[in-house]
Formats: sequence, structure tokens, C-alpha cells
Amino acid sequence: MKILIINGPNLNLLGKREPEVYGDSTFEDFFVELQFKFKAVQLEYYQSNIEGELIGKIQEVGFSYDGIVLNAAAYTHTSVGIGDAVKAVETPVIEVHISNTFKREDFRHVSHISAGAKGVILGFGLQSYDLAIQSFL
Ligand code: DQA
Repeated sequence: MKILIINGPNLNLLGKREPEVYGDSTFEDFFVELQFKFKAVQLEYYQSNIEGELIGKIQEVGFSYDGIVLNAAAYTHTSVGIGDAVKAVETPVIEVHISNTFKREDFRHVSHISAGAKGVILGFGLQSYDLAIQSFL
């Protein structure tokens, strides 16, 4: 089984960025734990701060991989283009968020991803990614 985790803007700063909201571990360290835990899964990770690159990656893997775990970060709330890409591909997409976006500012209550996603997992810290992978197994 091939699963790609895609992280959007500013998630390259996990560990440094607002640790009270997003925790203090880097995604690279957490990814090593995920690879160890899900040895039977071919797990890959991609991060970009650029909307078009995220759309390109969804299109690139979206007809051959078994699953995409997508945290589009701030683009979740603004990007019709990423939402359309999620709807366009065949690979099921699980939308994840580290924080509970519904406990936060109103603009974070809107998602352009959810309507095309197979499911949504949010508010469990980095474990949201772990739960999303489990949902594919
Ligand atoms: C986030 C929530 C978004 O509102 C925010 O812009 C992020 C991260 C999360 O994982 O909690 O960058 O997607």
C-alpha cells in the first residue's frame, strides 16, 4: 500500500512554529516514528509552501497511490484549486489538521477540502496523521 502525506504552508516549521498550538516535534522526527509504526505501508512525505506545487503533487500521485493524507494548512480555508484537485483525482484523500480548527478563529471553520475528502480528522495533534493512515488499513 502506497500512501503520501502532503503538508501545506508553514508546516515545515513544526517544532518551532507556535508550539502551544502545534506541539514541539518536527514533522521529520514524527515521520520516522510513522514509518517505524506502519512498516507494511510504503509511506512518503511531501511539503510545499506553494499552492500550485501542492495541486501538482495531488495530480501526480492521485491516479496511482492508495491514499493521500492532506494537511493543506492555511490553504484549506482559501484554496478552491486544491479543493478541486482533491475532487478530480481517484485516490481517496483524508483531510487532517493538527489543531481543532473549530475551536479557533471563524475563518478556520471553512474548508475547501472537506467536500472532496473521504474523511476529516482534526484536533488530535500529530496523532491526526496516525489516525488517517490507520483509516486506510
Ligand atoms: C492547520 C490549521 C490551519 O488553520 C492552519 O492555517 C495551519 C495548520 C492544522 O494542522 O491545525 O497551518 O491545518
